[in-house]
Amino acid sequence: LSRDTFPKGFLFGTATSAYQVEGMAHKDGRGPSIWDVFIKKPGIVANNGTGEVSVDQYHRYKEDIDLMASLNFDAYRFSISWSRIFPNGTGQVNWKGVAYYNRLINYLLEKGITPYANLYHYDLPLALEERYNGLLSRQVVKDFADYAEFCFKTFGDRVKNWMTFNEPRVVAALGYDNGFFAPGRCSKEYGNCTAGNSGTEPYIVAHNLILSHAAAVQRYRAKYQEKQKGRIGILLDFVWYEPLTRSKADNFAAQRARDFHIGWFIHPLVYGEYPKTIQNIVGNRLPKFTSEEVKIVKGSIDFVGINQYTTFFIYDPHQSKPKVPGYQMDWNAGFAYAKNGVPIGPRANSYWLYNVPWGMYKSLIYIKERYGNPTVILSENGMDDPGNVTLPKGLHDTTRINYYKGYLTQLKKAVDDGANVVGYFAWSLLDNFEWRLGYTSRFGIVYVDFKTLKRYPKMSAYWFKQLITKKKY
Ligand code: GCO
Repeated sequence: LSRDTFPKGFLFGTATSAYQVEGMAHKDGRGPSIWDVFIKKPGIVANNGTGEVSVDQYHRYKEDIDLMASLNFDAYRFSISWSRIFPNGTGQVNWKGVAYYNRLINYLLEKGITPYANLYHYDLPLALEERYNGLLSRQVVKDFADYAEFCFKTFGDRVKNWMTFNEPRVVAALGYDNGFFAPGRCSKEYGNCTAGNSGTEPYIVAHNLILSHAAAVQRYRAKYQEKQKGRIGILLDFVWYEPLTRSKADNFAAQRARDFHIGWFIHPLVYGEYPKTIQNIVGNRLPKFTSEEVKIVKGSIDFVGINQYTTFFIYDPHQSKPKVPGYQMDWNAGFAYAKNGVPIGPRANSYWLYNVPWGMYKSLIYIKERYGNPTVILSENGMDDPGNVTLPKGLHDTTRINYYKGYLTQLKKAVDDGANVVGYFAWSLLDNFEWRLGYTSRFGIVYVDFKTLKRYPKMSAYWFKQLITKKKY
């Protein structure tokens, strides 16, 4: 594996998100987001971790960008915090926040690193949640498009790669089905939530996210794209779902899982409607696109970012009707991490993350075949070590190198077989705030001492450095 292994112009970068790395959560004029209040509930984040300081990229961005440059990376995927720009979600601009992103973008360009800016990574301004229930309301569509347009106008002379939302499925499912992520809504059948209706809310939220994405893209295309010569897409998470057995029932179950997972979003964006599976199962709980909406939704991606980490087995649980109507129940699919007692792959620290390189290949070929071979950027891939790994042991991450080698080899194989993948981003540059796991999970190729905030490149960082130069491996 070397840079030459990949097509000419193939891009290598690392990815982060605002709340996970910036810190300064309540400083320099940033308004609170739904995560700032969610994490305050007892028992939500491991060891009560918060995003107040995180890894302080707000102040250390130069050091981080110097690191990226020294490791030979071409691009950096970061996210803009909506409430740092508009503390109330709409209206008054926080110019200190604007100045921060200008500093970040300008220094990236100075160091020859291409900025990839994502407009939303889970951090809805709290003001919008309080004003109209945030993503549950259609009002968010216009407000998001206004915020997006402000970013195009302000940063688009320098940012040529835009992404509207990160993992809208996670937003809808974890935020409104099982309540695992902010704003923590779910049906009481799940036991730990007080508010929500997972039979309808995830679908309403997903619909509003798709319409918000499309509205932002429409603005970009109408007013900025031609002049600024940029492109715009979305970031979707995907897990490869492999049927546990060759039975028809397991195959159908796996296909349902793929439709409910990625089809939910990519199908409307490519074909202008939800997958038939979802239409049939969810019935009148599923919002519909009007013919006007179809026009702006269909074809609203110049590229699709795919966040791919892992693979699960799926089996048919022999259940004709889900007992509880709810997004995950609607799949009517059983998950397994092992077959005949053999794990699907070595497990990382996170319970959901298994090292299964072949799933990368299958995911990319699936997207190519089912969705008209769109331009794909592999926008996240990586694995975590437990957070209690200390120095210097934490730097000897040969397991991570192994993971990256395997996945990149399979990605390359998919490219050889015609998948139109044009770039790859490792998650993540730095150890950072891993949501519910707080600081007990380390995804970085650079180790961060969470006390001193000092950065220490791990072996995997040097592995990338070698890969991206011409040296053969
Ligand atoms: C995402 C992810 C990241 C995580 C990463 C590791 O939505 O893009 O949640 O923010 O840190 O996937 O779990």
